[in-house]
Formats: sequence, C-alpha cells, structure tokens
Amino acid sequence: MPMQERYLVEEGLSTVPLINTRCLVIGSGIAGLSAAMAAAKKGPVLFASKGDFMESNTTYAQGGIAAALADDDSIELHIQDTLAAGGGLCDEEAVRLMVEEGKERCRELIDMGVHFDRTDGKIAFTREGAHSRRRILHADGDATGRAITSTMLEVARRTPNIHLLDNHFAIDLLHEGGVCHGALFLDTCYGRFIRVEAELTVVATGGVGQVFRETTNPAIATGDGYALCFRAGALLKDMEFVQFHPTTLYLAGAPRFLISEAVRGEGAYLINQTGERFMPRYSEKAELSPRDVVSQSIFKELNATGDTCVYLDLRHIDAGLVAKRFPTIGSVCADYGIDIRRDPIPVRPAVHYMMGGVSTDHDASTTIKNLYAAGEVAFTGVHGANRLASNSLLEALVFGHRAGSAEPENPGPFPPGSLRKRLPFKGARLDIEDLSRSLKALTWRNLGVFRNAIRLTETVETLKAWSRYVLAEQFHMRPGFEVQNMLTAAQVIAVSALARTESRGAHQRVDYPSRDPSWARHSSVSIEDLDE
Ligand code: FAD
Ligand code: SIN
Repeated sequence: MPMQERYLVEEGLSTVPLINTRCLVIGSGIAGLSAAMAAAKKGPVLFASKGDFMESNTTYAQGGIAAALADDDSIELHIQDTLAAGGGLCDEEAVRLMVEEGKERCRELIDMGVHFDRTDGKIAFTREGAHSRRRILHADGDATGRAITSTMLEVARRTPNIHLLDNHFAIDLLHEGGVCHGALFLDTCYGRFIRVEAELTVVATGGVGQVFRETTNPAIATGDGYALCFRAGALLKDMEFVQFHPTTLYLAGAPRFLISEAVRGEGAYLINQTGERFMPRYSEKAELSPRDVVSQSIFKELNATGDTCVYLDLRHIDAGLVAKRFPTIGSVCADYGIDIRRDPIPVRPAVHYMMGGVSTDHDASTTIKNLYAAGEVAFTGVHGANRLASNSLLEALVFGHRAGSAEPENPGPFPPGSLRKRLPFKGARLDIEDLSRSLKALTWRNLGVFRNAIRLTETVETLKAWSRYVLAEQFHMRPGFEVQNMLTAAQVIAVSALARTESRGAHQRVDYPSRDPSWARHSSVSIEDLDE
C-alpha cells in the first residue's frame, strides 16, 4: 500500500472534524473576495486562506486595474489591445466578457469604497505597456492592490453569510468520481486537520512565482492551487507561458521589488550602463512595448553588454509628479539609498505572472464537477501567450464573480474512504529549505526567458527524479506541502515548455525561434501525462 493511503486507513476520515457549507472559497485575493461576495447572495460561504487575509499577490499590485471607463476609450479598443498583446492565443469571447463585465465590476468596487485616484474629481487613468489609451485605474498612487484588498475584506467581514477562516492551508481537494466535495485543510495555528464539505468549491489560490529564484511574487505564491486541482484530475492549460516583468529592483540584499510598468507609462526611460536609451533599437513602441518584448530586449541587451542590470530613468519627469504617483516605490528605493527623482533605478526582469492555469470555461467551471477556479490560478484564455498589463486584477474580479454566482449540482455526501491521497504523516527525512533552493535554481536556469530542448529535457528529468522521493514524503507542516506543490507546478511548466516547439509571446525557444502556425492552439497537461 502506498504510504499516502495509510493515514486514512489507520486514523479514519471520521476523526477529522467536519464543516459543511454551501460554498467554499480558497484564497483571499481579489478573485476569492469577488467569488465570496457573489456566493454570499445565495447561501453560506466559508472563506479560507492559508495565512493572513492580506497576504496575496493582489495586495502588492501597484499599477492598477484596466477598464474601458475613460471618455476617449471603448470596449472594442480594450479588446483589440488585449488580443494584440496575446500573440494569437486569446479566447476572444472570454476577452469580451472580461472587458464588458469588467466595467460594471469596477463600478461596484468604487461603490464599495475603493478610492481610486482622481484629478479634479474625475478618475485619473494611467497608461501601461501596449495599451492604446490611458485606462488603468489606480489608488494611493502605486498601492492599488492594498486599497482594493482592504476595502473588499472590510465588506466581506461585514457580510453575515461569509465566515472567515485565516491560517488554514488547503492540503487537498475532496473528490470522488470526477466530482468535487470540498477540501481538506491544515489549521496552521493548532496543527490539526479540518474537512470542509461544500456544494461549490472555488479555488482562488493565485500564482506560482515562488517556484523561481527571482520573482515579484510574495511568499504565498507557491502554486498550491495548480497542484491541488492537478492531483484531483483537472486539466491544466498553457503552463509554459510564464510572464517576466521587465523591471524589478536589482540590488544585492534587496527583494526583487516590482517597479511598476506605470513608471514607464508616466514617461520613464530604460537606459543601459552607458546611459543610452536602448529600447527604441529593439521595438517601435520602445518602453511601452508589450511586456514580453521589453523583458526579452533587456536580456538581449544584457547579453550583448555583459552587464547584470539596466536602469529605469525618471530624472526628466517632474519630481512632484513622481512623488505623488509612486510613493511606495520611492520609499522602498529610498531604503536602499536610491532617490528615484535623481538616481536611475537598477532593474532586471523577474518572474511575475502565470498566463496558463486550471482550465475553466466562461463560467469559471473546471473539468471537475462542482469545482471552479478563478484569478491567476485559472486559465480562462483571456491572456493568450502574453498578458496585457493590469488585465489580471480585472480578470480575477470578473471570473471570481462568475465562479461565486455558479449553481452547482448537489454532489451528495462525500463517500467515506474516498480521501486517498496525500494525507499527512510526519516526514523529517527531507531538508525542505535545500529542496526549495535547488528547485528555484533549476527553474531559473532552465525555464527562463530563453529556453531550449537540452535544458528543458534536463529539467523534466531532474524534476521527475526529485518527485519520486519528495511526493512520496508525508509532511505535517505547511512548508512541506508547499514544496511538494512547487515541484508539481514546476513539472507541469517544464513538460509544457518542452512540448511547445515554437516561440510565441512569453515562451521563447532558441531552438525554435519562430512562431509556428500549427501551434496556434493551447497546450494541456493532466495527471495521466505525468504518471509513469
Ligand atoms: P492572490 O491575490 O495571489 O490570492 C491568492 C490567495 O490564495 C492568497 O490569499 C493566498 O494566501 C491563498 N492561498 C494560496 N494557496 C493556498 C492554500 N493552499 N490554502 C489556502 N489558501 C491559499 N495585476 C494587475 O492587473 N495590475 C497590477 O497592477 C498588478 N501588479 C502586480 C504587482 C505585483 C508585485 C504582483 C506580484 C502582481 C501584480 N499583478 C498585477 C498581478 C495580480 O496582482 C495577480 O495576478 C492577482 O492579484 C491574482 O489575484 P488572485 O486573487 O488570483 O490571487
Ligand atoms: C505593474 O504595476 O507593473 C504590474 C502590472 C501588472 O502586472 O499588470
């Protein structure tokens, strides 16, 4: 009998306390909050997150949220910009849904109390790369995510149907015969397990940045949701499309703190060590080219010059505007001795966003009955091969709402004895820190901006070898579960990247440098593809 089955047999599922609810939402970012609020209109919601509710990618969002609300903007223009950035892989219908419904969802945010910045009483829109209009709403200058999360959380706390559960880590989904019944949690404060059975389960667990050494993502972004859904048999799509943000702070000892694209939107230049503004040599739209183009150009420039970073130069922009628009960036840079009004900021690309994810339809439904996914963890098809800046918060808001509005079929009681996999045992054989560091080093070296078959094959083989002993291990603490999830997510990314023998958007193969029309389709991976 595999190790993983023993817990159930010895302890019995009935020893694990049970909570019943109509809807379970896993994740406290914008997608989870949006889902919980929609679901609360229909019945009780259990809203769970693995740490503090404020810890999410959403909280750190700087630039803002894109919505065609400006007088000179239109739904059609926003759709066209999204499709153009997506490298021929966007699902146009999903894009239309996002852009159309996004306007209403953003108005609801305003009604809830999110104070987007205004000039003379009117919303002040900023510009970001590849947007043909100023259409990004922002709050507190560059602290948009914090403003959105804190306001939505406040509303959630006041909503009688929403029951909040922080410090609860979702270990696995409860599923049987292609139907989801909820999830098994670890209460990380008291070290006990809890079973939550629900008619509707929404996975809104965010991204995967922590799988890589250099990332803008906070520590929570360990790819749990991809692995949870994958283990339950859900289909994952387009996982090779990992977006690098072109400009993260590059200083020894500093975190890879994001320097928002809105900084370039307000006019900042990218310069090399000699002070040359180099982007016009690579692309007509220069600093405001799509994100994949800017990241690839920076790496080409670094390879040509042998330097380790380039610089963002704001010295020609009005100092008052810089201080007003970018207070957080200014303050973090000041901590490292950089005055952004006077000193060029050393920057370099880092992993930022996962375009692929758990395959969902337009109603956020996955390939497993009663299981929904929304936000960064989900694949809706709106981003294609390269996400347009500030469309992520919008997508999460819109499809989170759709997930929470779903009408699931009653799954019936969860059959006792069905919880087969990955119930925890104590596992102390593995050095989790070392494993995590090794994984990040491998992915950074081989799954970066430029890829090739030799490195990808090496990665797939290495991850497979590690998985044989790491996934069989029984952990009882969050870091152990997280590293297992990171390993699974990395495997799916590597397998998908090896399969796509072309270059498109954020996926660049030096051995297949052109776009191949026969690859104008989505890749997909399920657990059967990785089982030997
Ligand atoms: P998240 O906001 O990441 O929330 C995920 C939640 O799930 C967290 O609460 C986490 O704790 C919880 N969770 C994860 N695993 C588990 C588990 N196993 N059990 C229980 N809970 C779990 N996009 C834009 O559109 N505009 C921007 O300006 C922008 N700026 C960004 C800046 C930064 C620094 C970063 C990192 C991203 C930025 N993005 C931006 C991207 C955007 O913020 C994210 O894609 C988006 O916030 C994802 O929202 P989400 O709700 O899907 O996930
Ligand atoms: C940024 O502010 O540059 C991040 C925007 C995004 O990821 O969409």
